Amino acid sequence: MIDDRIAQEFNDHIRFEMASSHLYLSMAAWCESHGLPGFSNWMRRQAEEEHQHALKFFNFLLTRGGRVRLADIPAPDQDWDSPLAVFEAAQIHEAEVSQRINTLVDTVMSVRDHAANAFLQWFVNEQVEEEASVGDVVNRLRLVGSEGRGILLVDQELQQREATRLPA
Ligand SMILES: [Fe+2]
Ligand SMILES: [Fe+2]
Repeated sequence: MIDDRIAQEFNDHIRFEMASSHLYLSMAAWCESHGLPGFSNWMRRQAEEEHQHALKFFNFLLTRGGRVRLADIPAPDQDWDSPLAVFEAAQIHEAEVSQRINTLVDTVMSVRDHAANAFLQWFVNEQVEEEASVGDVVNRLRLVGSEGRGILLVDQELQQREATRLPA
């Protein structure tokens, strides 16, 4: 059985991962509307991953006998000034996710829930990847600046990102 406070914080985190998925889908729509199907593809894949992250928390909570209580998902931002602004916002968002995961680890350690800690370590490692992959796109967009052909080259590259199957 899971501690009530941990269950509450995991439910909050399910909501946050769903909100992340919603944000990236909003970014996917913006990119596609601005003639950038590759950036849109990358963001669609990212939205799918965030949904899978939410499901990992959902499944863990249920397995541990906790109640899942879904809540409202806030409306995401919808407008950005440039592809770089989109990816910078995603980078800031991922840094916040990492902070939240770290805080969750602190909380489960404080009640000596080692199973929850082991579960969260997957996310600790995942966030290293998440911050690196979004940072990589930000760096490339900064390199090309507002030069249209450079942006289109990066767009073509991001078209290659495929759906990832996360381990259960
Ligand atoms: Fe996530
Ligand atoms: Fe993420």
